[in-house]
Amino acid sequence: MSGLSKKRVLLIIGGGIAAYKTLDLIRRLREKGIAVRAVMTAAAQHFATPLSVASLSGEKVFTDLFSLTDEAAIGHIELSREADLIVVAPATADLLAKMAHGLANDLASTLLLATDKKILVAPAMNLRMWLAAPTVRNVATLRADGVIFSGPGDGDMACGEYGPGRMSEPLEILAAIEAALTGDTVLPLPAYPRADAAVAGALDGRRVVVTSGPTHEPIDPVRYIANRSSGKQGHAIAAAAQAAGASVTLVSGPVALADPAGVTTVHVETADEMRRAVEAALPADIFIGAAAVADWRTAETAPEKLKKAAGAEQSLTLVQNPDILAAIGWRDRDRPALVVGFAAETESLIEHAQKKRLAKGCDLIVANNVGRGSNVFGGEMNEVTLIAADGSERWPSLSKKEVATKLIARLARQLNEARI
Ligand code: C5P
Repeated sequence: MSGLSKKRVLLIIGGGIAAYKTLDLIRRLREKGIAVRAVMTAAAQHFATPLSVASLSGEKVFTDLFSLTDEAAIGHIELSREADLIVVAPATADLLAKMAHGLANDLASTLLLATDKKILVAPAMNLRMWLAAPTVRNVATLRADGVIFSGPGDGDMACGEYGPGRMSEPLEILAAIEAALTGDTVLPLPAYPRADAAVAGALDGRRVVVTSGPTHEPIDPVRYIANRSSGKQGHAIAAAAQAAGASVTLVSGPVALADPAGVTTVHVETADEMRRAVEAALPADIFIGAAAVADWRTAETAPEKLKKAAGAEQSLTLVQNPDILAAIGWRDRDRPALVVGFAAETESLIEHAQKKRLAKGCDLIVANNVGRGSNVFGGEMNEVTLIAADGSERWPSLSKKEVATKLIARLARQLNEARI
């Protein structure tokens, strides 16, 4: 036994006459103590039988991508991951082409695309196929992708011609496998763009204040006026600004959400408390008013629970709450460079939102349609239109998190381009 015992090879057998040599390869691998699990393409089964491969490997042979029983026993992704090395022998022109182009339409090609291990191929085909321009291109692509090649060699072909395309002998393939197995065979996951990568660091050193959630305006000690805001959008914005590197204060009305990590969260109940908390959090580079602040509060809060008198009407006198957004938008001193408001409208969305933007002295209004059937309140999705001085921009239906990330990316760009 060599130091390679306990190593596992996933052997993919392609459809070629050289498959008979692969049977010998299996025997020699097992002599070295290397476990072999085999996958056969549909074509391979014309040249060698799954039964002979199973007998030599001592393991079940896999042939079908959509086999319920195989998938229940060992998922095809796992099959491609539990091995230390993937070996393709014989690697036909067709298998190489599939690999080079990332096709995944049968079990073998799917495993080759899904694997996190190195791949070693032993090509075998007619010399014209090996020398054909598409194969030459595919081989170059695969070499550049890090696929290891064993052969092919020159020699007499089964078809009577002589030239390159003969599969390496089992002992040569064995040597190449042993060499590959002595090194690291794990492929690192390629870098991929994360959803928040666009904004990472974009607000380094900036201060952002966000309001979120509803406000509760007390009527008496047990009753209050409220609205259906969940705070999901505002909280997601605070989290996205924090992820972009900003120092964030979130002023939140009563919500059933956790405080976002790394964000200074101030909990308030009424619009008046929210106004004071926002003032205290200034100065800031960006103010985003995402809260659904109650427009009215009762003129007086009853000190004791209001009692109902049989049959009598009860009326409440309401007075207007301070408009926090407008107060920030129209500030002379310490006005944040960017002031952003939200507009929940049920009709004439753009027209009403544009008016609101001007009235409240905002740079940007994020308008959403909360009309019947929109499911925005409390839901996970949001479909918004951005309204600025120079026009509007409609975004598709996105998760509230995605809206937050895109909004923060845009505000960071605006701030940085304006060199404010
Ligand atoms: O006027 P309307 O309530 O529709 O405006 C919505 C926008 O104004 C939101 O950004 C909201 O946070 C803000 N607002 C505010 N203070 C209020 C009312 C609304 O900051 N009293």
